[in-house]
Amino acid sequence: MKNKIVAGNWKMNNTFSEAEDLLLAIAEGIDGMILETEIIICPPFLYLEMAADIAEESNFYVGAQNVSTEEKGAYTGEISASMLKTSGVDFCIIGHSERRTLFGETNTDLRKKIDVSLANDIIPVFCVGEHLADRETEKHFEVVKNQLEESLFHLDTNQFEQIIIAYEPVWAIGTGITATPQQAQEMHAFIRSVIEQKYGTEHAYNTYILYGGSCNAQNALDLFMCKDVDGGLIGGASLNVNDFIEIINAAETSTKNN
Ligand code: 13P
Repeated sequence: MKNKIVAGNWKMNNTFSEAEDLLLAIAEGIDGMILETEIIICPPFLYLEMAADIAEESNFYVGAQNVSTEEKGAYTGEISASMLKTSGVDFCIIGHSERRTLFGETNTDLRKKIDVSLANDIIPVFCVGEHLADRETEKHFEVVKNQLEESLFHLDTNQFEQIIIAYEPVWAIGTGITATPQQAQEMHAFIRSVIEQKYGTEHAYNTYILYGGSCNAQNALDLFMCKDVDGGLIGGASLNVNDFIEIINAAETSTKNN
């Protein structure tokens, strides 16, 4: 039995007090639950330390949404992997489509972010996914394969074992249009087959591949029941404690029924 991971990407949302209320509400909501599911909360940088303090007394991990390509130095406004690690952060989203599209991050930049994270003992949650035009022209498999190859496949097996992958079709992010379970399963199985060719069957099986893109309390269970979907990277629905906890419950149910 492979357990699931449910990660919440808050993006650029919540004031300080809203963030505190939501973190405490999540901690209270999962208090006393015996969970197979691993929970990762990814708030904005400013709230990471607060999240890490609350996480110490709770049952979730803390992730950042981004990290600098550089270790340290004159990079005004940047946050390094060692800063994250020493603030209690264990995970980092890398290569989110919003970073790729709005901030011009390339597969080469992301490869550096992967390396610097691993060097500082931070587990990357590496996002891949195609734009609608790629899918309409049937290039979606090729696009995702390139993203994997160009940012991850320089890693040796021991390093690759640390990576979590999130498949987030860009057309499904924040749109209310979710990939169907069939579409998600097809791409997740493809990603696993690409990993298998490079790192072998056992590593391919062990790699967590999360789905993200309008995943919510209503559709999470159907997505999580797919054979190759190992959990979710949740945007909008992670900002509402009840929805987020329902998604965690969906992950638990899918683990028990798979
Ligand atoms: P939504 O769940 O709001 O579509 O966002 C998904 C996402 O981008 C998570 O990283």
